[in-house]
Amino acid sequence: MLLLRASTLYVLLTTFIAASATRFRRDSQPVKTVVVFGDSFSDTGNIEKIYGFPVAPYYQGRFSNGPVWVEYIAQALNNATMVNQAYGGAVANRQNLPLRASTRNDTYPPDVNEQLAWYLGNTTTLPDPTTTLYPIFIGANDYLHTLAAGGLPVTSTIAGSVVAFIKSLHTSNLKASRMVVMTLPDFAKIPSFTRLTKNSNSTGLPPDALAQLATSFSTQHNAALEKGIKDLVASTPGLRIDLVDLFSLFNRAISNPTSFNLTNVTAPCLSFSPGTTPTALDTSVNKDPSLITTCPTPNSYLFWDNTHPTTIAHKFVADETLRVFNQPTSNTVTPNNGSNSSTTENKKNAGVKTVGGGSASALGALMVAITYWIM
Ligand SMILES: *[C@@H]1O[C@H](CO)[C@@H](O)[C@H](O)[C@H]1NC(C)=O
Ligand SMILES: *[C@@H]1O[C@H](CO)[C@@H](O)[C@H](O)[C@H]1NC(C)=O
Ligand SMILES: *[C@@H]1O[C@H](CO)[C@@H](O)[C@H](O)[C@H]1NC(C)=O
Ligand SMILES: *[C@@H]1O[C@H](CO)[C@@H](O)[C@H](O)[C@H]1NC(C)=O
Ligand SMILES: *[C@@H]1O[C@H](CO)[C@@H](O)[C@H](O)[C@H]1NC(C)=O
Ligand SMILES: *[C@@H]1O[C@H](CO)[C@@H](O)[C@H](O)[C@H]1NC(C)=O
Ligand SMILES: *[C@@H]1O[C@H](CO)[C@@H](O)[C@H](O)[C@H]1NC(C)=O
Ligand SMILES: *[C@@H]1O[C@H](CO)[C@@H](O)[C@H](O)[C@H]1NC(C)=O
Repeated sequence: MLLLRASTLYVLLTTFIAASATRFRRDSQPVKTVVVFGDSFSDTGNIEKIYGFPVAPYYQGRFSNGPVWVEYIAQALNNATMVNQAYGGAVANRQNLPLRASTRNDTYPPDVNEQLAWYLGNTTTLPDPTTTLYPIFIGANDYLHTLAAGGLPVTSTIAGSVVAFIKSLHTSNLKASRMVVMTLPDFAKIPSFTRLTKNSNSTGLPPDALAQLATSFSTQHNAALEKGIKDLVASTPGLRIDLVDLFSLFNRAISNPTSFNLTNVTAPCLSFSPGTTPTALDTSVNKDPSLITTCPTPNSYLFWDNTHPTTIAHKFVADETLRVFNQPTSNTVTPNNGSNSSTTENKKNAGVKTVGGGSASALGALMVAITYWIM
C-alpha cells in the first residue's frame, strides 16, 4: 500500500499540473511569445496609462483583482514573453457601432484592427510566427456599445468582424498562424444585466424575454464565429486555431460553483457607494478608491465587478485554454466535446427566438447602464 502524506501529494499534484501545463503539441514548436489584441478582458494596463484608471482595489491597471488570463497563459508556457496591445473598451470593428455611439468617433480605445496597425507601425522586429501564440477575446463590446446607443446588434456582422480580424492577423506581416479564440459568455448572466432585468419594469419586456434575447446574442454570435473560423481554417493552409468554449465554461461555473471552489457566481465582489455611477468616462469616480468596497473573499467569486471576472476566474479561462491548446491536433478548429467543454449548450440555445425589432430601443435603454461597466 502506498501512503502519501498530504504535503507530498500536494507536491506531486502541483508538479503534475505544472508539467502538463507546459507541454506543447507534438507537431508544434514551443511558444516563446504571446501577442495580445483585445479589450478589458485582456488589457494589462494600456487604458490605465492613458486615463489613470482603473485604480486599486483593481490590480495594477487590470480590470480584475489580479493577473488576467493571457498572463496566466504566458506564464504556463515557460514564461513566454508577452506583448499586450489590448485596450479596455475596444470593439472588433468601430464600424459596427451606430453613429451616435461615442466609441465610434473617439480616438480611444482603438478597435483591434487599429491595435494591429499600431503594433505593425511601431515594431521593427516582428515575432516569429512559428513560436508565437495569439489569444483572442473580442466582440462583447460591439454588442454592449450598440445596445447602449439604442441600436440592434447584427450577430453575423459582429462575428464576421472577429473572423475578418483573425484573417488579417494571418495575412498581415505578422503571418500569425497559432491562435486561441474565445467564444463570448452568456450576456444574460453578467451581473449588471441580471440586476437590471430583475429590478427594472421600465422596458416593457418581462425579465425572461430580456434574458433570452441577451442569451441569443451570445449563442448566435458563437455559432457564427465557429462557422467563420472553420471556413477560414479550411481555406488557409498552415493556420491553426483553437476555439475555446468560454460560454460553456462560465455556465458550468455558474451551475456548479463548488466544482470550481467558488461560492458566489452571481454577485460582483466589488460594490460601489450608493449614488455613484462609476463609469468608464467619469474618471473622478474611477480614481476614488474610497467609493469602492471589496468583498472579504474575492477568490470565491466569479465576478470582480459587474462585468469583469475575478483573477481566479481568469485562471480557469487560462487553464481551459491551455487544455484545448495542448490537444494533439493540428490545423483545425477544436470545438470542445463532451459535457465539460462543449458547444452543445450554445447549439441548444442557438434557435432561441429573438424578440421583435420594436423592443430594440427599450432594450437599448436598459443596456445603457451596462456600458458603464464595459471597459
Ligand atoms: C515563471 O517565472 C516565475 C517567476 O520567475 C517562476 O516562479 C515560475 O516557475 C516560472 N514558470 C515556468 C513555467 O517557467
Ligand atoms: C459621430 O459622428 C457622426 C458622423 O459624423 C455623428 O453623426 C455623431 O453624432 C457622432 N457621435 C458622437 C457621439 O460624437
Ligand atoms: C504607434 O503607437 C501609438 C500608440 O501607442 C499610435 O498612436 C501610433 O499611431 C503608432 N504608430 C504607427 C506608425 O502606427
Ligand atoms: C414588475 O411588474 C410586474 C407585473 O406588472 C409586477 O408584478 C412586479 O411587482 C413589478 N416589479 C417591480 C420591481 O416593480
Ligand atoms: C454573493 O455576494 C453578494 C455580495 O457580496 C451577497 O449579497 C450575496 O448574498 C452572496 N450570495 C451568496 C450565495 O453567497
Ligand atoms: C478554495 O477557496 C478558498 C477560499 O478562497 C481557499 O482558501 C482554498 O485554498 C481554495 N481551495 C482550493 C483547493 O483551491
Ligand atoms: C467532436 O465531436 C465531433 C462530432 O461528434 C467529432 O467529429 C470530433 O472528432 C470530436 N472532436 C474531438 C476533439 O473529440
Ligand atoms: C470533466 O472534467 C472532470 C475533471 O476535470 C473529469 O473528471 C471528467 O471526466 C470530465 N468529464 C467529461 C465528460 O469530459
